[in-house]
Amino acid sequence: MMQPKPDRVTYLVTGCAGFIGSTLIDRLLANGHPVVGVDCLTPTYQAMIKERNLTDAIEHPGFSMRRDDLAVSDLEPLLDGVDTVFHLAGQPGVQTSWGSGFANHLERNVLVTQRLMEACLATGVRRLVLASSSSVYGAVDGATMEDAPLRPLSPYGLSKLSTEHLASLYGVRGLDVVPLRFFTVYGPRQRPDMAFHRMVEAALGGPAFPLRGDGSQRRSFTFVDDVVDAVVRVAVAPGVSGMVLNVGSSTATPLIDVLDLVGRLVGRPVPVEYHERPPGDPDLTHACVDRLRDMIGWVPTTGLEDGLAEQVAHHRATRSLRAPGAPGRDLLLSGSVTT
Ligand SMILES: NC(=O)c1ccc[n+]([C@@H]2O[C@H](COP(=O)([O-])OP(=O)(O)OC[C@H]3O[C@@H](n4cnc5c(N)ncnc54)[C@H](O)[C@@H]3O)[C@@H](O)[C@H]2O)c1
Repeated sequence: MMQPKPDRVTYLVTGCAGFIGSTLIDRLLANGHPVVGVDCLTPTYQAMIKERNLTDAIEHPGFSMRRDDLAVSDLEPLLDGVDTVFHLAGQPGVQTSWGSGFANHLERNVLVTQRLMEACLATGVRRLVLASSSSVYGAVDGATMEDAPLRPLSPYGLSKLSTEHLASLYGVRGLDVVPLRFFTVYGPRQRPDMAFHRMVEAALGGPAFPLRGDGSQRRSFTFVDDVVDAVVRVAVAPGVSGMVLNVGSSTATPLIDVLDLVGRLVGRPVPVEYHERPPGDPDLTHACVDRLRDMIGWVPTTGLEDGLAEQVAHHRATRSLRAPGAPGRDLLLSGSVTT
């Protein structure tokens, strides 16, 4: 008797070596799904850190990785047999998007997303889950719903808003896309340019934390496992196609309070260096997550203190592992690979 053709269940994660992408990979593998990852290890931070993010995944038989640049590589073969794409590759960072840095944001956020959507459409991918950002909102004065005005304060925010517009355009052509607006994500593997990472490193004896302004700016700081939980559930949720959804903590916390908390968790105050407030830095980001709760029953479950304690533990563990040579490192350094 003929065996029925298996459903296409393979997941593709772009930006798989990054902070959120690698955490998602580990979750998908733990849930028993085969996963293909793609990343070109852009030089936004050390390749060694990105390689380390995949230490567990590359040992897993369900994981294969391609080291390809999505801005130039042929994407259709990459999507062969892929059911769902999690698009986390991108050029993050508000400050680096000013000046000549904008070229990277245009290429890695806008162009790459457009190329990927074309390829998803051509290959019949079932759903594309897209990483957008709270930066699309701009200045707000309270908890923000998805239909609030979109007035980004930075070229980065503009580039992410462009990806949402692309989602609408390709949605009209039949692509099932769900853009998720992430609010400042933290936790183990957080990017080295991000505030919590720098605070923890400062408290552990690294360079002083550059506090930009007086620390009164408030953010919906969101733990990475909660974000990954939302991403995984959205991938299979009915009724969300084409919907934009906030993924964030419902509490907005002043940055200065986090400095105190990090000091307490590390057992040493965070040394601080004071700087001017940079352009494009909003006073507030504050997620209203009612839509996501109503659609999929998601609410963030990790409190700031618990999440930060996990991040501090990660920093302590990786500081003692600074030497390169994590298992499988050669695989990641050698162009496109499949494990
Ligand atoms: N971290 C946050 O707080 C946050 C908040 C809002 C939105 N986001 C978005 O979520 C996504 C993931 O963020 P992150 O913090 O994990 O960033 P990250 O820099 O750690 O990960 C992004 C990964 O994408 C890869 N990449 C970039 N361009 C590529 C290309 N052309 N081809 C292949 N790989 C490429 C990079 O090498 C990197 O490993 C990004 O799109 C970011 O804009 C993040």
